[in-house]
Amino acid sequence: MHISVTEAVERLSHGEVVAIPTETVYGLAADARNEAALQKIYAIKARPSHNPLIVHIADQSAVLDWADRFPALAQTIAHAFWPGPLTLVLKAAAGVSPIVTANQVTIALRVPDHPVTSQILKQSGLGLAAPSANRYTQISPTQSEHVMKGLGVHIPVVDGGLCKVGLESTIVEVFEDAQGEAQWRLLREGMISASQIESLVKKPAVEGLALTKVPGQHRLHYAPKTALQVCATRETLLEQIVDLEEASQRVAVLTMGQALSLTLDQLVLEASPSKYANQFYAALHHLDALGADVILVEAPPDTVEWRAIWDRLARAVH
Ligand code: TXA
Ligand code: MG
Repeated sequence: MHISVTEAVERLSHGEVVAIPTETVYGLAADARNEAALQKIYAIKARPSHNPLIVHIADQSAVLDWADRFPALAQTIAHAFWPGPLTLVLKAAAGVSPIVTANQVTIALRVPDHPVTSQILKQSGLGLAAPSANRYTQISPTQSEHVMKGLGVHIPVVDGGLCKVGLESTIVEVFEDAQGEAQWRLLREGMISASQIESLVKKPAVEGLALTKVPGQHRLHYAPKTALQVCATRETLLEQIVDLEEASQRVAVLTMGQALSLTLDQLVLEASPSKYANQFYAALHHLDALGADVILVEAPPDTVEWRAIWDRLARAVH
């Protein structure tokens, strides 16, 4: 059900849950200070309570409402990338609900870059806890129609069109080491890359991806219902199509650059990382709905610009 910005502000202020657009994916939002409202998010998503939520704020000036400190290193990152597809994990301030943080000592914060949601944040004056507006382990929504398809037509959604980034935010934790010096690490890949952050802060990340530090980032995430396989080259893709069709399997294909000249269910995405990311979840939603036996994906290039896409592809394989 589509609702207006005014109605969204009204509902959020009264402890209700509303799906909102961001530049990454649609979020399922609630007042981050209202525990009954927060519980509704977990219930609607069927999300385990050990998986913490990102709090969306209007601008940097709200950071210290939620975080205990805003280290200079984190300020530099925020200044460069907010509003935008980057989440900062900082030490939480006293008084932040343990339902938001899932009992961790840290809090995840993001200033999203979407005019509709900026307006909702400003008008409501709230911090909005919002995970992606999909059921736990299913594909994230990049259009309001995906939200209603996944969570039901009665979910109130503010329509903000197609999300322009299309993959979830990069998550960066900033913390103090034993010497009291600020350090950073990458907790989730996104379209803002670790190398962009590294060249900004002139300091390498403390370690590689620390998946254990990100509850809920288990492998089976963002997966379509249909089995999905990645084919390393166009040749192996074509061979796999022949093999599967011989075995009477119905195949749907996601290619890039140039379409296959075959009559089968096929979507072609552009061979540019940002354009591919922008269309990727919509493509998975579409191919998944065809009811094929297998979705075959032509592998994107194995270069750094494609890392976040590879991360989501790996999670979609099963
Ligand atoms: O782009 C995005 O980040 C979208 C939009 C709606 O903002 N949100 C999103 O939320 O992807 P979600 O809940 O699907 O993923 C958030 C991730 C989870 O894996 C969670 O474990 C991690 O952020 N996270 C949240 N709070 C954290 C914390 N305090 N420490 C470490 N990881 C945290
Ligand atoms: Mg999610």
